[in-house]
Amino acid sequence: MVKDPKERIKELVDLLNYYNYMYYVENNPVISDYEYDKLYKELAELEEKYPEYKLPNSPTQKVGGQVLEGFRTIEHKIPMLSMDNTYSSEELIEFDKKIKRMGDVNEVDYVVELKYDGVAVSLHYEKGEFVLGVTRGDGFKGDDITENLKTIKTLPLKITYREPIEVRGEVYMRKDDFEKLNKEREKNGDVLFANPRNATAGSLKLLDPKIVAQRNLQIFVYQGFIKNGPETHWEVLNFLKEIGFPVNPYRKLCKDIHKVIEYCNEWESKRFNLPYNIDGMVIKVNSILLQRTLGTTTKSPRWAVAYKFPAEQVTTVVKDVIIQVGRTGTLTPVAILEPVHVSGTTVSRATLHNFDEIKRLGIKIGDRVFIEKSGEIIPKVVKVIPEVRTGKEKNIPIPEFCPVCKSKVVKDKEEVAIRCPNIRCPAQVKERIIHFVGRDAMNIEGLGEKWVNILVDKGLLSDYGDIYYLKYDDLIKIERMGDKSVKNLLDSIERSKSTPFANLIYALGIRHIGVHASEILANEFNSIDELKNAGFEKLSSISEIGPIMAESIIDFFNNEENLKVIEKLKKAGVRMEKEKTEEKKDILSGLSFVITGTLKNYSRNEIENYIKKLGGKVSDSVSKKTDYLICGDQPGSKLQKAQTLGVKIISEEEFEKLVKSRMNK
Ligand code: IVH
Repeated sequence: MVKDPKERIKELVDLLNYYNYMYYVENNPVISDYEYDKLYKELAELEEKYPEYKLPNSPTQKVGGQVLEGFRTIEHKIPMLSMDNTYSSEELIEFDKKIKRMGDVNEVDYVVELKYDGVAVSLHYEKGEFVLGVTRGDGFKGDDITENLKTIKTLPLKITYREPIEVRGEVYMRKDDFEKLNKEREKNGDVLFANPRNATAGSLKLLDPKIVAQRNLQIFVYQGFIKNGPETHWEVLNFLKEIGFPVNPYRKLCKDIHKVIEYCNEWESKRFNLPYNIDGMVIKVNSILLQRTLGTTTKSPRWAVAYKFPAEQVTTVVKDVIIQVGRTGTLTPVAILEPVHVSGTTVSRATLHNFDEIKRLGIKIGDRVFIEKSGEIIPKVVKVIPEVRTGKEKNIPIPEFCPVCKSKVVKDKEEVAIRCPNIRCPAQVKERIIHFVGRDAMNIEGLGEKWVNILVDKGLLSDYGDIYYLKYDDLIKIERMGDKSVKNLLDSIERSKSTPFANLIYALGIRHIGVHASEILANEFNSIDELKNAGFEKLSSISEIGPIMAESIIDFFNNEENLKVIEKLKKAGVRMEKEKTEEKKDILSGLSFVITGTLKNYSRNEIENYIKKLGGKVSDSVSKKTDYLICGDQPGSKLQKAQTLGVKIISEEEFEKLVKSRMNK
């Protein structure tokens, strides 16, 4: 008898979810791929025929839903903190002593877990259904990436626990998927991801969940906030596993810190056999009650600590040294290496930073060297092994001319860098455009390094302003550019016109102005014209904007060429000011606070979070750049320092009045 389609759909969804769980989480497939695909096809066909019976937890949803316009910002009810690091067994013993002292206990159980090198997310379930997933963001608020998370095959859309629950975990990409993705990107001329962590972060920020689905992201959960839940973290993890979450199997309950150290040492070499990257271990106090007693600092919980593995070092041979010209003209020597496997990826290049570093290392072409990748993206040469030299090694000459445009190079005063002074140098032009289209800047998908090179060489781009004047008819003539790619590219260029103001500032490529500084400037100014007209005084009075940055901003806007490009952007309709809604929410933006003494209505954590939420800054010490010292009972030495420097001192009540008056503006 033919089954009722509604019932069959439900049956197939349950079956396929179970098979997925066994395959991806338990690593224990129970049916063949062929059988799975057959059932999957049956389900997809039924769903197409009877869309009204489609279930939200259907595995067909994992291929990604609608393209999004942007991400909503969501506040974390419980801040997502970071963790203190330790690097040796001595530091772990110190951590244990501190726990015992502060918790007033003689013995402590610990849970040791792997420290997955990915991206932290918070997952919310209601009535057993996955309803919301948020990035860590700044720890207080993050982006709603629910649709992207739904594409992760190991993330359950349904769990067998119906109370509201928040679970936290790490999204990551497996090493083999990472290598595959980068090969594909290389083929398409897209910018390569530096490591699996960056690839994960980049994927989660994509607006098209269908592309995210192809990235094959994974997740492990490591924390759960469960009302009236278990009394130990160990039991929390087991509970999370039971109700359907992927919990890493290599967790261990240790009776004392020596057992913890033993387990950490065990993983130092074992980690390389894992299919994903870890950058250390996490040690957590097992008792939830003791965790609560210990509490948190503003930055991190006192009951957990990360144990970071020493960076892996390997030896290889320097085959050549090439000179790269950056977007600001800086010449950077790069060592071309005999490819070698280190910390999870194959590397064939290492930066030598500058020519002073070459001198310091005493490095020659042909040398055998030690390299390491210390959690950072680009590996570095640590030292040369002169003992194995053959005599055939060659010195690395300091260039007198730019390797690309042949201009005579200049050496900046007070800086070690050698620079090509020619602002029209094709290498600089290309790098500036590559920077402009990058993910943290205007995020123009489809205009990777390869296409920038081609478009500059064909004379279609001579600065980033030209991007907005590219025409279909010119692009379609280029080899390997099909109708669809051209249309997609033009769409993505059009979309970038309304990129957030901070990204635009970053995209301009002002020397010394990175992502963070751009955000600060975007908080402070409402438009590019306001930023352009700000003098040195104003700029350098902004907290975290130093004199070098201030001067660099002024230099940038004093340059005729730059002003012309900005005009081009304006004419093309690129938004060069804050969105109206952006202005209002950060009512304390640009203000820097220091707190001393005990407050009546807030704990330290609370007031700091509150100020940050309203866009203000909190620092630990008073300086000339401090706007207000909030002074509670029994203030410390900060009060005197504020008095000496003439910093405004306000009470808790005055602080609240200040907030209210700004709210009502
Ligand atoms: S527990 C900080 N457990 O490490 C509050 N975190 O450096 C407790 N991480 O943002 C976090 N593996 O993204 C915890 N097994 C693990 C982890 C882990 C990786 C990440 C997490 C956090 C970062 C802090």
